[in-house]
Amino acid sequence: MAVPLPDWDESTRPTTSTYDEIGADERAAGQHLTAIHDMYRQGLAQVSAVLDQVVDGAAGLGEAREAVRQLGLRTAVERAGSFCGQLCRAVESHHRIEDAYLYPALRIADSGLGGVLDRLDSEHLVVHELLVRLDDTLVAVTRDPDRLGVLVEEFTHLRRLLESHFVYEEQQIGGALGVHRITV
Ligand SMILES: [Fe+2]
Ligand SMILES: [Fe+2]
Repeated sequence: MAVPLPDWDESTRPTTSTYDEIGADERAAGQHLTAIHDMYRQGLAQVSAVLDQVVDGAAGLGEAREAVRQLGLRTAVERAGSFCGQLCRAVESHHRIEDAYLYPALRIADSGLGGVLDRLDSEHLVVHELLVRLDDTLVAVTRDPDRLGVLVEEFTHLRRLLESHFVYEEQQIGGALGVHRITV
């Protein structure tokens, strides 16, 4: 039986209301985190679209089939896989920067954010576990294109978790970043 994908319970996330009433300037100053996340959101959507095309091509659907036929299924899967791998490495390095600089700076600026930051930290660990697993699947799928379905399942799960993490992070620490003028 397949090992379930690592996940979390969104209902147990701590929240803070300390920064709910801040001014527009301070709020705008914390927007850089959202701008960085938007780049990853775009990347996630692009990888998703490429994977969809390969899946459709493998299933013999319309234009995607033609594109995949010209490229060859194995090459199409390898290309999609390396695109996916690049994005995963970028996300991993974004989280390492937050772990090393952003969260510690916020802990110093406001000890009241401890609960939220502990939770964000623990979500990074879950995402990391999923990225390691996805990495293994990327290697496996280049040897065996039949594992494409597993890759799509793991990637779709990663995308859902990451998009949820981004929103939670922006809502809970965006204001604090602006008020304390902490930049990534
Ligand atoms: Fe994060
Ligand atoms: Fe982030």
